Amino acid sequence: MPTYTEITPRELKPALLQLDGISRASVEAQDRLYQGYVAKRNEILGKLESADRSSANQVYSELRALKVELSFAIGGIKNHEIYFEHLGGGRITKKEMIGRLIERDFGSVEDWARDLKASGMAGRGWAWTAYDWDESRLFNYVGDAQNTYPIWNATPLVALDVYEHAYFIDFQTDRGSYIDAFFANLDWAVVNDWVNRYQIQV
Ligand SMILES: [Fe+2]
Repeated sequence: MPTYTEITPRELKPALLQLDGISRASVEAQDRLYQGYVAKRNEILGKLESADRSSANQVYSELRALKVELSFAIGGIKNHEIYFEHLGGGRITKKEMIGRLIERDFGSVEDWARDLKASGMAGRGWAWTAYDWDESRLFNYVGDAQNTYPIWNATPLVALDVYEHAYFIDFQTDRGSYIDAFFANLDWAVVNDWVNRYQIQV
């Protein structure tokens, strides 16, 4: 009997296909990659059922290969589910709790955006705004791939995809303009709902 549950990709919400500045083709390309992460997550967990534990080795082994790439697949799923969920929709600009958290920890929304944009320019794959439960504060983190530099006990609230596939169709090499479009399409009501759901206190 399998010890894991297969998951299925979430449906793309229609609003994602009508973003300002980020094209339908670009979002659909992202969605195909996301579906690939889900399929590989299921495949890897299936293979782990029978992987040989006795030959586990840090240089190369079946177990190492499966577990390392599982982290890439799961990262790809979680990062994109955040990305898809907080773009489009009502494009709500009222920030409420998340606005107060940002002002407390970054000084102002403008300062937060400047730092997240710079983090996105500095990363090779992702930049995230996450709440660190040990430090009780927001911080903008950089990631080079789906599975690099996650911070334990921190909850991502904004996920900015800066892999080239996220912007090359619409902006060629102009990553900065893509990041500006990302900000313009952020649905703050979604981010604020997460702050409430996780009971993050200002
Ligand atoms: Fe992506």
